[in-house]
Amino acid sequence: MRALVTGGTKGIGLKIVEKFLNDSVADIHFTGRDREAGEKLASRDGRLHFHCFDTSQRESIDRLYKETGPVDILILNAGICRDTLFLRMKDEDFDQVLKTNLYSPFWITKAFLSDMLKKQSGSIIYLSSVSARGNAGQANYAASKAGLEGMAKSLALEIGRRNVRVNVVRPGFTDTKMTADLPENMKEEIIKHIPLLRMAKPEEIAEVVYHLAMNCSYVNGQVVTVDGGLTLH
Ligand SMILES: NC(=O)c1ccc[n+]([C@@H]2O[C@H](COP(=O)([O-])OP(=O)(O)OC[C@H]3O[C@@H](n4cnc5c(N)ncnc54)[C@H](OP(=O)(O)O)[C@@H]3O)[C@@H](O)[C@H]2O)c1
Repeated sequence: MRALVTGGTKGIGLKIVEKFLNDSVADIHFTGRDREAGEKLASRDGRLHFHCFDTSQRESIDRLYKETGPVDILILNAGICRDTLFLRMKDEDFDQVLKTNLYSPFWITKAFLSDMLKKQSGSIIYLSSVSARGNAGQANYAASKAGLEGMAKSLALEIGRRNVRVNVVRPGFTDTKMTADLPENMKEEIIKHIPLLRMAKPEEIAEVVYHLAMNCSYVNGQVVTVDGGLTLH
């Protein structure tokens, strides 16, 4: 079994890599731009392979595929946010978030899908966000994640007959670098609305991604929300 996790150097992606490492996954490939963090992680075990690429650049995808070869499990986790109010949002803020969060998963899926279809086996998981429902200050991010969910469901309908499953994990507010810089009062305000009254730990999201990839052979085309109950409101 061979897996590729994009954005495996930090946060949720790092915890997904660690889950595969504790299992019998033979080869775990992961990407990121932070060479130091990637090489440090890869040095922990011979089954870990770091690929230092900016995957928001189209030309990096073919090189990534050449380096890794086919995989059985594809986790499209790398993502960024550039939050600001709509009228202040610059084209480059919109463009970079869409390239990283939506175009890149599209390009990478295309590069790795043919092998899965030929083998008639595979699991693809996209990391979305509760912000896909819409969130003030996140028009670019919400558009990218809503697009990702639509793409995933369409793909699941197209390729289910070839025994390749496609699912989405939709985390809520999670304690990673992405949320670290939010002002404390804003964090407190968000936490008040979460029934579990706390943020997720990245390993709690990774746990669901891992089970969906490895164990849930009849779950297909689904968006699995992991948000401590936030979106019940
Ligand atoms: N944290 C949350 O509250 C939250 C909530 C909902 C959804 N999510 C989603 O969950 C996923 C993981 O988020 P996180 O919180 O773990 O974020 P994070 O801690 O900021 O980590 C993001 C990861 O993505 C990689 N990455 C970003 N842009 C990249 C690029 N252009 N090329 C290659 N790698 C890139 C980073 O690698 P380098 O730093 O090495 O470049 C890093 O490993 C994202 O898709 C995010 O949208 C997060």
